[in-house]
Amino acid sequence: MNEPLALPRLVFIDREPASATFADEVRDGLAAMPKRLSPKWFYDTLGSRLFDAICALPAYYPTRLEMALFARHGEAMAACAGTGRVLVELGSGAGEKVRHLLPHLEAAAYVAVDISRDALLSAARSQAEETPLLPVFAVCDDFASGLELPAAIPDGPRLYFYPGSSIGNFTPDEAIALLSPLATPGCGLLIGVDLIKDVAVMEMAYDDPLGVTAAFNRNLLVRMNRELGGNFDLPRFRHLARFDAGHGRIEMHLESGVAQDVKVAGRVFHFGAGERLHTESSYKYRLDDFTALALKAGWRRRGCWTDADGWFAELYFEA
Ligand SMILES: C[S@@+](CC[C@H](N)C(=O)[O-])C[C@H]1O[C@@H](n2cnc3c(N)ncnc32)[C@H](O)[C@@H]1O
Repeated sequence: MNEPLALPRLVFIDREPASATFADEVRDGLAAMPKRLSPKWFYDTLGSRLFDAICALPAYYPTRLEMALFARHGEAMAACAGTGRVLVELGSGAGEKVRHLLPHLEAAAYVAVDISRDALLSAARSQAEETPLLPVFAVCDDFASGLELPAAIPDGPRLYFYPGSSIGNFTPDEAIALLSPLATPGCGLLIGVDLIKDVAVMEMAYDDPLGVTAAFNRNLLVRMNRELGGNFDLPRFRHLARFDAGHGRIEMHLESGVAQDVKVAGRVFHFGAGERLHTESSYKYRLDDFTALALKAGWRRRGCWTDADGWFAELYFEA
């Protein structure tokens, strides 16, 4: 007998931030002291590909360890989270990690949310082809100031999935503000958290010997040149990644080697020699500290899986 014919079901909802929004944030960020930009702007098409390359680096332990946790405990995580929910993935990227969970979850639908349009569409298309019976929604949106799902997304209890320790890109207060509105009755949250460890290990993950992370960081300048008429001269900016023990975070910067004026988004900005543009923070947590943060956001811990060295944790919370 033939297999029943099933057509992939994919709905794309496009709320990609307008280029005017990017220009506004660049003008504000470069006028600020110290200069800063949100890491969400790393992820144009090339930025997402460079991030995929970072994930393959031996130095980038978060992806390797989190993937191993899913391979080993994916079934247990799904058992803890329960079946039949609408699975909403924040910052889904290449969509590799969810593949370990979907077979166990019997999800009612899968909603991938990401700011990076091409990466999102390509991952969502592959997922829809692989699981033709599963309704797949690809939502291109910026959730930095709150996740607002379109009305087209099915109701019902949700399982939020936020892998990659990307929650570390937010300050603890911002993380609470992001996670609080999601904590509605019946919902769950499965989240990857990078734990405090040896400083050299953490710094190497963000400053690898091949220079892939440096390219990822400097691609932000390439993007501003292309999309906002900028004239950043790449060799004049150095990639820096340092652990700031006071804040408990890795910081990435682009440091100007010389005093220079740069034109971008219709304005001229001065960089002093050695002046830095802060491009990313990546907070590292102790397990108890993150559990306490989540509790403040309305989430109670129900499951915890870590690697043998205690470098990375996958945590399950219920609202
Ligand atoms: C560090 S990568 C992680 C990708 C994937 N989840 C993983 O674990 O390998 C962060 C992902 O989140 C997306 N992202 C970053 N900031 C975002 C924002 N404010 N709104 C929506 N997506 C965002 C990026 O485009 C990227 O795909």
